[in-house]
Formats: sequence, structure tokens, C-alpha cells
Amino acid sequence: MAVCVKDIVPKRKGLFITFEGSEGSGKSTQIKLVRRYLEKKGARVLFLREPGGTKISEKIRRILLDVGSAGMGDECETLLYMAARAQLVKETIAPALKKGMIVLCDRFLDSTLAYQGYGSGVSIEWIKKIGGFATRGICPDLTFFFDIDAQEGLKRIQRAKDRIEQRALAYHERVRQGYLKLARREPARIKVIQGSKDKDEIHWIVRKHMDGLLGL
Ligand SMILES: Nc1ncnc2c1ncn2[C@@H]1O[C@H](COP(=O)(O)OP(=O)(O)O)[C@@H](O)[C@H]1O
Ligand SMILES: [Mg+2]
Repeated sequence: MAVCVKDIVPKRKGLFITFEGSEGSGKSTQIKLVRRYLEKKGARVLFLREPGGTKISEKIRRILLDVGSAGMGDECETLLYMAARAQLVKETIAPALKKGMIVLCDRFLDSTLAYQGYGSGVSIEWIKKIGGFATRGICPDLTFFFDIDAQEGLKRIQRAKDRIEQRALAYHERVRQGYLKLARREPARIKVIQGSKDKDEIHWIVRKHMDGLLGL
């Protein structure tokens, strides 16, 4: 079953592209490179990150990533991610896509499936159901998954680790395997790219997929 409920999506002109992967896999790095590339081309692009991107969603982000939120249950965590997402979709993503903009987002529903679903064991079916509600059925047209060995990814993070990043290596390995499962189920949408490759090499692969989709 596809993650998103495409048939209930209202007709839209814009394009929605998401970047997924474990911590340190290179999402932010690649988004920065793509941003430079698309802005040079004069494209109308909106860059967002999850959880966050709106005033309310950024407040929810603080609760989620705060190491002081230890003891938060998996259900609460899942619903907070969804709540942040619902606000971002309603306030920003849906209107931007309606206007025909290109929306690039650092993480989206696949993250909840990989982390809370495959990582923590929350029901995948439930996440898909609540996800359909939170996203209003809006599904990315294209998703990049930067695949990296969990330990390698975590080693790349120099700053203090947040509440999710602090979890055990085995958790991050389950997340990685979860992402790979999602990608196997939806190969047309989710492009798996080796995160251990050189930054510029990855950028060229990302560009090739985007150019095809955007007609650049
Ligand atoms: N392909 C790459 N090879 C080596 N180091 C990388 C690569 N891509 C990113 N990095 C470095 O790894 C760290 C984490 O990258 P980042 O883009 O912030 O990952 P994410 O946003 O997925 O957590 C940064 O210090 C970044 O410079
Ligand atoms: Mg990042």
C-alpha cells in the first residue's frame, strides 16, 4: 500500500519534494546545494523543515527534541510530529502547492514511519491513517533517501545530540532498515542515494532527478 492517499488530493500545480534519511546522512547539505541551484534558475521555491516551518510547529519541535522531554510515550511523540505536520501542511505547504510553487521539505511523513513506526514499533497502519488526516493526503512527488550506516551518520554530528539522536544505535539501525523498506515499496517516488558518496557526486544525482521532474 502506498504511504499517501493520492486520490483524495485536490488538483494542484506545484511540486513537492522531500529529503529523508538518518541524522548526519546529508539532508541539510544537499538541500543547501539544491537551493543554490534552483534559485540561480529563478525557480519559485519554498524550503521547509520538519518538525517546524510555522510558528506553532516550531514550538512543537522544541518539545519533541528537548532532552528534558524524557519519558514521552511513543503515542504522544507520534501525535506531536503529526500535529506539527498538520499545521505546516495547512498553513504553508497546501497553499504554496496550490499557487504552483516548488516545495522542498527536510523530512515528512516517511520520517514518522521510519522513526516512530519501524524504530519504536508504533503501528504502521495507524501512522498511515493519522498521516492521511494530518497531510490532507498530500504526498511528495519525489523523495530522496540518503542511506548511510547508522554509526557513520551519528559520527558526523558535531553538535550536542537531541532527544531522538541520543537513542541507541540499534534504534537507528531499525530506522535505516525501515526507510529501505519504504523505498522498496515505492521505488518510483523514493530514490535511494548512498550517503557515503562525495557531496558533489550526490548533488549531481539529486539534480538529475530534479531536472527530469521540473523539466529544467
Ligand atoms: N557526502 C558527505 N560526505 C561527507 N560528509 C558529509 C557529506 N554530506 C554531509 N556531510 C557532513 O556531515 C555532517 C552532517 O550533514 P547534514 O547535511 O547536516 O546531515 P543531516 O541534515 O542529514 O543531519 C555535516 O558536517 C556535513 O558537512
Ligand atoms: Mg539536517
